[in-house]
Amino acid sequence: MKPKIINLPKIIDPRGNLSFFEYPNQLPFEIARTYWIYDVPGGESRGSHAFKEQQEYIIALSGSFDIVLNDGEKEERFTLNRSYYGLYIPKMLWRTIENFSTNSLALIVSDKNFDANDYIRDFREFKKVRNGK
Ligand code: TYD
Repeated sequence: MKPKIINLPKIIDPRGNLSFFEYPNQLPFEIARTYWIYDVPGGESRGSHAFKEQQEYIIALSGSFDIVLNDGEKEERFTLNRSYYGLYIPKMLWRTIENFSTNSLALIVSDKNFDANDYIRDFREFKKVRNGK
């Protein structure tokens, strides 16, 4: 599968809006783990790595940030700044999250439990594995 923005239902209500996601209606995978990134100083960047197996879905619950994806050859940038859509990221893409606005909140759900061995933290190694060299 390719990375893609997945729009979420938005229940508009004068008392406050509500959005949600569930498998399989919005999410293409079952959730094994949820984490979030918060208290990020404005302009910071995180998460320059790839995952061998895990897939993710990332939402900007608050504020904004950019997700830059690299398949080893070309780069694609997605700006997230609303809580009613997010970015689906398949496995084996180099991903960097950058340009965090002050007080932004990134919600991330994954189909795998945490496993340090699933990370590729070296871009050259990522390219080698990705290109099968
Ligand atoms: P990491 O994924 O490396 O953060 P980033 O790529 O955004 O800089 O995670 C930072 C640290 O947190 C690392 O030591 C692993 C730990 N961690 C967990 O223990 N469980 C988790 O679910 C996640 C995402 C990270």
